[in-house]
Amino acid sequence: MPDDRTRPHVLMMSEITADGKLTLKRGASSKRLMKFMAPETEVLLHETRATCDAIMVGSNTIRIDNSFLTVRYIEGKSPIRVIPSSDASLPPDANVLKPDAPTVIAVSARAPADRVAALRAKGVDVIVAGDEHVDLPLLMQRLVEDYGVRRMMIEGGPTLNWHMLHHRLVDEIRLIHLPFIVGGEDTPSLVGGMRIDSEEEMIRLSLKAHYLCGTNLVTEYDVVYP
Ligand SMILES: NC(=O)c1ccc[n+]([C@@H]2O[C@H](COP(=O)([O-])OP(=O)(O)OC[C@H]3O[C@@H](n4cnc5c(N)ncnc54)[C@H](OP(=O)(O)O)[C@@H]3O)[C@@H](O)[C@H]2O)c1
Repeated sequence: MPDDRTRPHVLMMSEITADGKLTLKRGASSKRLMKFMAPETEVLLHETRATCDAIMVGSNTIRIDNSFLTVRYIEGKSPIRVIPSSDASLPPDANVLKPDAPTVIAVSARAPADRVAALRAKGVDVIVAGDEHVDLPLLMQRLVEDYGVRRMMIEGGPTLNWHMLHHRLVDEIRLIHLPFIVGGEDTPSLVGGMRIDSEEEMIRLSLKAHYLCGTNLVTEYDVVYP
């Protein structure tokens, strides 16, 4: 369990094909895959969102999927939406900048002041964490201290997933398995960015549950850091 003074409990949740991919091809919206999720699984996703104080996705997912990240299929409170974007370069018409739920954009010190001001003018909070890139451990600490976030989920993409795992900030993983194979050498998979040379560097998981939700297999793991 994390030290709750420094970071929230973090659940990584994702829809994933049988070959581990998150979307049809590089640059394609995962919404094209998500429409094949069983209705019960969409409800599970929204129920999970409603149990979290915050939800985070990477800035590229916002550019490609234009996600809302709100609770819509059940009654429940939408979590705080958290988007790391080192240079504050989110599209001005992004859905997460609309006032459906509170939003925090995390930027680094190199983000141009005019872009930060434009984001704040839309009514979202901007946190500066890190010099060149968003410092994820520091961001986690700020979310606990300034926003009272105790439980957070991340919904990708692979770049953010890798950085969160690399910093040992993920406690649990929940996968919704979609019965498709899409192939593609450069098609985004659950975790990007990782190059390992030895078995010792593998991130180890402990399976804790598997069940059918509608027609989708769901698996749940704890992340086991040495
Ligand atoms: N199936 C699913 O469940 C699912 C879920 C989500 C996404 N997706 C798919 O994943 C794809 C996008 O994934 P992606 O890997 O290209 O992008 P991503 O992980 O969504 O976003 C990565 C970007 O976040 C920003 N960032 C800022 N600080 C960061 C930090 N400390 N660590 C990591 N990232 C940081 C960086 O952009 P800046 O340089 O702008 O800061 C980075 O390039 C899309 O095709 C989307 O459809 C699928």
